Amino acid sequence: MHFLHVVGARPNFMKVAPLTRALAARSGVRQTLVHTGQHYDRNMSDVFFRELEIPEPDFNLEVGSGTHAEQTSQIMSRFEPLVVAQKPDWVLVYGDVNSTIAAALVSAKLQVPVAHVEAGLRSFDRSMPEEINRLLTDQLADLLFTPSADGDQNLLREGIARDRIHLVGNIMIDTLVHVLPKAAATPADLPRQYALVTLHRPSNVDDLSSLKRLLDALTGIGATLPIIFPVHPRTRQKIAELGFSHSGNLRLLEPQPYLQFLALQRKATVVITDSGGIQEETTFLGVPCLTLRDSTERPVTVTVGTNVIIGRDMNLLCREVKAVLNGEPKQGGIPPLWDGKAAERIARILVATG
Ligand code: UD1
Repeated sequence: MHFLHVVGARPNFMKVAPLTRALAARSGVRQTLVHTGQHYDRNMSDVFFRELEIPEPDFNLEVGSGTHAEQTSQIMSRFEPLVVAQKPDWVLVYGDVNSTIAAALVSAKLQVPVAHVEAGLRSFDRSMPEEINRLLTDQLADLLFTPSADGDQNLLREGIARDRIHLVGNIMIDTLVHVLPKAAATPADLPRQYALVTLHRPSNVDDLSSLKRLLDALTGIGATLPIIFPVHPRTRQKIAELGFSHSGNLRLLEPQPYLQFLALQRKATVVITDSGGIQEETTFLGVPCLTLRDSTERPVTVTVGTNVIIGRDMNLLCREVKAVLNGEPKQGGIPPLWDGKAAERIARILVATG
């Protein structure tokens, strides 16, 4: 059986790693790995392949950045001839980035079966480009692997046949569990207590006045709790446009390699983020997470885990940080099937489906 994996952006890499391993352990399986090139900076891409021991991509479509239509259409037109030539039995797509929908659409039209890993998540906010990618990819997929039961319910409501849906657990947690022992102890010269911050959603960073409000609030928090802030390239551009000058308690870093970032999360007093994956990782690690978005497509991190949705309310953000500092953080547990074995379940189903 020939499986062709498509990845493109940073959050895809930790999802493909465990599945390539689980499939490689089975006989009669051939795998091809395609990188669309959506993320291309060394520290947004190469470093993840090395640290997570992902095989070198067989093909890199080198699409780079662009508007959504430019990026998606470039991926589609470069991916189509590759699928025709490679004739895979399955195309595997991950998460909700532009590479995911582009590859799913091409494959479905070529009548090559598509499996979607991390299916069924919904924020119910169509102003997020990822929500559109999720909805459409799930309509096109033949097999849908969900990380949590809310995903199954969303898919059933959208008319997806029950026998295509498989609740397998959270594959990103497979990677976390796999590398946690290797995650560097405490990175050097860290304060004893700190908030770890990441921000990259268009809704937070593209509008300069929203970004300024957030940076001002973080500067205020920085007066009592030092802030460590690895900055996504999109956000760095916008901070430069703002001409924002930051105080010593707000430490801006380059995007961090996976192991370093995991070490930073693990030791953080609190994480403040607008990422999807980090809401899940903090839940697994039991670290308080304050999410700077109005909604989450990962509700289990709120109902079961340590996540609190802050929206745009900077007073609420400051109150929640204070609660953590006062020793009263939201307590959480680990959702079912977030056990490091999701990729094994997926591999078993894929091979059995044929
Ligand atoms: C993409 C995903 C988002 C995911 C995020 C993780 C979509 C719609 N969005 O958003 O879901 O959470 O990845 O990072 O697919 N850039 C670089 N170097 C890079 C990559 C990007 O400098 O290696 C800059 C470019 O200026 C680019 C901008 O960042 O225009 C945004 O990159 P893009 O891939 O379009 O979206 P992300 O914001 O990274």
